[in-house]
Amino acid sequence: MKIAFFDSKPYDISSFEKASKGKNLNIKFYESKLNSDTAELAKGSECVCAFVNDTLDKETVEKLLNLGVKLIAMRCAGYNNVDLDFCKGKIPVVRVPAYSPYSVAEHAIAMLMTSIRRIHKAYIRTKDFNFSLNGLTGFDLHGKTVGVIGTGKIGRCFINICGGFGMNILCYDKFPAKDSGLNYVSLDEIWEKSDVISFHCPLTDETYHILNDEVVGKLKKGVVIINTSRGALIDAEALLDGIKTRKIGAACLDVYEEESELFFRDVSGHILEDDVLARLISMPNVILTSHQAFLTEEALEGIATTTVDNILTYFETGKCENEVCVG
Ligand code: NAI
Repeated sequence: MKIAFFDSKPYDISSFEKASKGKNLNIKFYESKLNSDTAELAKGSECVCAFVNDTLDKETVEKLLNLGVKLIAMRCAGYNNVDLDFCKGKIPVVRVPAYSPYSVAEHAIAMLMTSIRRIHKAYIRTKDFNFSLNGLTGFDLHGKTVGVIGTGKIGRCFINICGGFGMNILCYDKFPAKDSGLNYVSLDEIWEKSDVISFHCPLTDETYHILNDEVVGKLKKGVVIINTSRGALIDAEALLDGIKTRKIGAACLDVYEEESELFFRDVSGHILEDDVLARLISMPNVILTSHQAFLTEEALEGIATTTVDNILTYFETGKCENEVCVG
């Protein structure tokens, strides 16, 4: 069976070659992202394998259907970049619902600790034999309040780690987990009381720009914002204004609304056109990683194994438990 694999990186190739060994799959790895211009590369393939910044809009999916593609296998948890309404009844979409939620939760904590203990500054200073501590004062997490938005698999891992620090944990979820013992509060309470806020909910119409100008006005002064979920949960201009006015004390971002043309690529030799991103990166209290939170050996192995299983199961049985949309 031939699979067109879009937006491939060296680490994808090695994990998928390992997971598909001896399984009679012919994977063609393409560096190009999937969109209506590149869909043609899937000619002759029964399946396309796509990632977070591929564009699976109506136009692209229509082209895939015309080429005879029978399955869209997302190698990620989120599927906000797929036009599911259009796919319904035409082509099934499968995904990887879970693969080491620890990878993302631990990355969120890594960014938080880096930011509040100024490790990013200290690292550069000591490399230059500058051993001064001036300006590196941080704060204890113990006893601080963290607001967690989205208490699913990743949110729970994050909550468990925060519990270990002795933090007071406030939670918000549209579908609170019954009998979880978690302290669910309103969104307003999260905004008003949290010293740290971390986003772990999916991007939907409801959560689009959930952090916006109006919300910035409600935040506790000095709050640290962490986003390892999806960029468009945050209105980046509102975030920038909040940082400039000192309302927001720090931001730890692994995702950015306009990341699709930049993240996962080396554009260091180019002029960055995005002024908001450039200004955010220039801030001493912003830590930005380029959608790296999932990138652990365990997560890559989990993604590749589940994706290969999804594809084989679908073509053998005509269904798959990880289907988000029935074809
Ligand atoms: P999950 O499905 O286990 O949990 C999501 C939680 O969000 C659920 O409890 C759900 O009830 C809640 N939720 C849904 N709508 C909501 C709303 N309107 N407001 C508040 N909460 C809402 O998902 P998981 O595995 O924990 O992943 C969370 C997100 O993390 C994904 O949607 C994805 O966007 C992101 N992610 C980021 C990665 C990265 O590398 N940066 C890697 C993997 C996932």
